[in-house]
Amino acid sequence: MFDSVEAVREALAGEGYIADERLATTVFLQTRLDKPLLVEGPAGVGKTELAKALAAATGRRLLRLQCYEGQDETKALYEWDYGKQLLYTQILREKIGQIVSDAVDLEEAVDRIGAQESVFFSDRFLAPRPLLEAVRSPEPVVLLIDEIDRADEALEAVLLELLGEYQVSVPEIGTFVAEHAPYVILTSNNTRDLAAALKRRCLHLFLDYPAAERELEIVRSKNTGLTDALAAQLVDIVRGLRELELRKAPSISETIDWARTLAVLGVDELSARVLSDTVSVVVKYDKDVRKSLEALPRLVDPNATVPDRHPHPHDHDHGHGHDHDHGHDHDHGDDGRAARAAKDQPGRFTDGYYGTPKKTEQKSATATLGRRRAL
Ligand SMILES: Nc1ncnc2c1ncn2[C@@H]1O[C@H](COP(=O)(O)OP(=O)(O)OP(=O)(O)O)[C@@H](O)[C@H]1O
Ligand SMILES: [Mg+2]
Repeated sequence: MFDSVEAVREALAGEGYIADERLATTVFLQTRLDKPLLVEGPAGVGKTELAKALAAATGRRLLRLQCYEGQDETKALYEWDYGKQLLYTQILREKIGQIVSDAVDLEEAVDRIGAQESVFFSDRFLAPRPLLEAVRSPEPVVLLIDEIDRADEALEAVLLELLGEYQVSVPEIGTFVAEHAPYVILTSNNTRDLAAALKRRCLHLFLDYPAAERELEIVRSKNTGLTDALAAQLVDIVRGLRELELRKAPSISETIDWARTLAVLGVDELSARVLSDTVSVVVKYDKDVRKSLEALPRLVDPNATVPDRHPHPHDHDHGHGHDHDHGHDHDHGDDGRAARAAKDQPGRFTDGYYGTPKKTEQKSATATLGRRRAL
């Protein structure tokens, strides 16, 4: 299908998916070697999107198996359509009655019904699920097995036959072999190790957060409405946030969301304040938000010693103090440490703010005091 790595890159780009050289090479090899591709990496780096883009770029139908805990093979491979089987036996009750009517005993009657089993376990009553459907499809498909690490290990074992030979065996019927090898993409968030047998059958790609230029290219391709200069600055800031060891680092999709948010607000300069006000678009845990708020002034302006935000930003509206009289200069005499220390004081957030450290300390201190008094 593709005759070069560059052709892969262009075709994916045509579907809005920006691939770097390594990614494009891996996809090229996948299509040439007819091997499944296992893509591992953090959330939101474009694993699922790759399968969608590949399907669109090759004009193939996309079949998707979303994995989850406790999923069994009947939801992945095929199951027997019990309802339909039952319906047929009801309708054909008379006919079935004829078959067993002159049986001399129960054993013979059961044998006669048994001889008809193949009728009920035939193609007609087979309900294919995504894996079997991919193998039986008359036209070539892309098969996405999404978040395989969420499924149990038993399901991985079920996949081996498909991944190795592009075939599925149904004991009652036989083996279905794919007419056209599907392009199979498996994704994993790395929440657990996958079986070596599965890895061995796949090409492997670790998809990490992209390089700054590629991330900028992705953001620009999404027409977020943010100017290129601001988008470039935003990408750098998000990259800075990723270094903070957050519980959940912002991904590409969050950079895109942030760019859209800022564009909607009509922002024409990325100040620590506007970023702080919108930071919840990119970090979703309390602790992460606090860490990010602290880091943002530094990320916006690495030379800033005094953070932009005042402990109570809504009470005062003065910025860096440039507009002030000389008489106020002593306010800024400290090297910024005092200002930062002030920010670290509990009470920076409103009283009810979840996780405000002082609250619990205070409480336990008073509690101890109270107990001592009681003694
Ligand atoms: N290379 C890329 N080119 C264009 N858009 C991208 C790219 N990578 C990621 N995106 C954007 O990021 C979004 C999230 O990507 P996707 O859903 O594929 O992430 P994921 O890796 O599957 O995450 P998860 O592990 O949470 O399922 C996509 O909807 C897409 O808009
Ligand atoms: Mg995904």
